[in-house]
Amino acid sequence: MTKIWDVTSLNKETILECEEFADNDAFERIEAALVHVDAAAAILAQGGTVAFPTETVYGLGANALDAAAVAKIFKAKGRPSDNPIIVHIAKASDITQLTTKLTPTIVKLIDEFWPGPLTLVLPKTAAVPDIVTAGLQTVGIRMPDDAAALELIKRAGCPVAAPSANISGRPSPTRAKDVLSDLDGKVDVILMGGDCRVGIESTVLDMSGDVPTILRPGFITKEDIKELIGGRVEMDPGITDSLEAPKAPGMKYTHYAPKATMTVFEGRQEKVISEIARIKALNEANGIKVGVIIFEEKDFILAASEFFARLRDLDSEEVDLILAGAMSKNDSLGFAVMNRMMKAAGYNIVKV
Ligand code: TXA
Ligand code: MG
Repeated sequence: MTKIWDVTSLNKETILECEEFADNDAFERIEAALVHVDAAAAILAQGGTVAFPTETVYGLGANALDAAAVAKIFKAKGRPSDNPIIVHIAKASDITQLTTKLTPTIVKLIDEFWPGPLTLVLPKTAAVPDIVTAGLQTVGIRMPDDAAALELIKRAGCPVAAPSANISGRPSPTRAKDVLSDLDGKVDVILMGGDCRVGIESTVLDMSGDVPTILRPGFITKEDIKELIGGRVEMDPGITDSLEAPKAPGMKYTHYAPKATMTVFEGRQEKVISEIARIKALNEANGIKVGVIIFEEKDFILAASEFFARLRDLDSEEVDLILAGAMSKNDSLGFAVMNRMMKAAGYNIVKV
């Protein structure tokens, strides 16, 4: 049986109320959540699986140094075994057990972006089991920016391997209820926090070679990285070119797929809106249930935070067809959102 525990109170606002205003009620709510986090941490330390909130999407964690525990993640998610898992830490100094490559540039990235939505791919130490890295000699590492996640990892006393907490292929979960609908009964604990602030998974940056290379676009953009470290920053051609094999194994799979057929409409926004309305009416006239996803043209932050939730809501409404409006790929966050939207639609695109 999966234990389902509420940790919503472990958020920055409640912690601030507690610290700045000595708010007793806030203190008690935080204490109650910490009792759950403590129990979940003990389960992690004993080789169990715990789903938990992060600022990007919910993760499904296990002790990263325990191969048998990590195997339970692959089983619960139905995850292909050639897809490596990101290892999460709670203090930057814990990175030294996972990698020995800490150049000044890497330290700069950590100082600037951790805790936060940036995963660094680095050469792994012998302590990291092969199952975590799917046999690769590199390991993805990140420190999440979420109070419950950080407390959980700290109290578990081990680095925590955690992919997104969805059944493989389904949209990543950004709300506690999404984790419940995918993993209830399949994992030991689900920590239910609030909705994820960022809403798309971390930027994956390969720092194992000579040229920093983005393997998965995310909230931290190429410009953000370039501005900090200067020099060349590349984008893995596998992200956009379907003929190139992506370097992040996970980028090659069918992903984020809703149950409905999905089409993305690309073009000037007024035209996109009118074309979607026309196609919607045509389909509805034939008794087909249609869902629409259109965001404000420049509201990339909102689009990132809501896209996966919208896909899941349309699945719950059992629509047959999803019609979505493309956003600008010239904006770096827009590019990251479009990466998810195109995959969700299986690259089914109509230019208008
Ligand atoms: O925001 C996130 O990154 C979330 C939260 C839970 O932290 N996690 C996440 O994990 O999205 P997952 O497993 O769904 O995606 C990990 C991605 C995959 O595309 C995987 O192939 C890539 O990172 N990856 C992990 N380790 C890698 C490595 N050593 N080399 C190349 N790619 C790697
Ligand atoms: Mg995932």
